[in-house]
Amino acid sequence: MKITERQQSIFDLFTSAGNKQQAEQESRSQVPVVKLEKLKESCLVCHRCDLREGCTQVVFGDGNPHAGLMLIGEGPGADEDRIGIPFVGRAGQLLDRILEAVAIKRSEIYITNVVKCRPPGNRLPQQLEVDACLPYLREQLALVNPEIVVCLGSLALRTLIDRKATITRSRGVWHHVDGRGIIATFHPAALLRDPSKKKDVWVDFKEVVKYYNPS
Ligand code: URA
Repeated sequence: MKITERQQSIFDLFTSAGNKQQAEQESRSQVPVVKLEKLKESCLVCHRCDLREGCTQVVFGDGNPHAGLMLIGEGPGADEDRIGIPFVGRAGQLLDRILEAVAIKRSEIYITNVVKCRPPGNRLPQQLEVDACLPYLREQLALVNPEIVVCLGSLALRTLIDRKATITRSRGVWHHVDGRGIIATFHPAALLRDPSKKKDVWVDFKEVVKYYNPS
C-alpha cells in the first residue's frame, strides 16, 4: 500500500516527537551521572579535613549510578586506600559473599563510605572528619537516589539515622528518610571478628531483598 504525502507527514511528526522525547529522557537520566562525576572530581581534590594528608587516595564510591540499593560503610581500609575502590579487602570479600548469598550483583548496586579517606591505622573517623565529608555522602544519596540504603556498621547508622543509636539494638529496623528505606546491619569486619553475628546479617539482608527491586 502506498502511503500518501499527508500520512507520511503525520508519521514524521510522530516519530520525530517520539525520538525527541526519548532523547530528552536519555539525557535526563545522564544528568545525575554527570553530576556524580563532577562531585567525584571535587571530592578527589578535597582537603576539608586532615585525613587526606595521611592517605594514598580518595575512595569516592563504586557501582551503578542508577542503583536502587546503596551500601554505606565506615571508611577505606588499607586495601581500599591502595586500590581506590570501597570494600575490596577482607571485609569486602565477605561482603561479596553475603551479596551473592542473597542474589544481589555488586555491579547493580552502589557502594560508598561515610568518609572517603582512610583514617590512619584504621581508627574510627572522628566527628569533625565525618562532618567534613558528610556533604559528599548526602550528594551521592541525592544523585544516585536509591530506594534502599543499608548502613554497614554503627558509624553509618549514627551518621544517617541517630547519633546515639547502637548497632546491636537498631540493626534490622527500617527507617524512612527522604522517601527511602534505611536499614542497618553489622559491618562485615565485625563478622570477621565475631562470626556468630552472621545469622543477624543474614536476617537483615533477607529483609532488604524483600523490598529491593533491581531494575
Ligand atoms: N571497611 C569500610 O567500612 N569500608 C571499606 O571500604 C572497607 C572496609
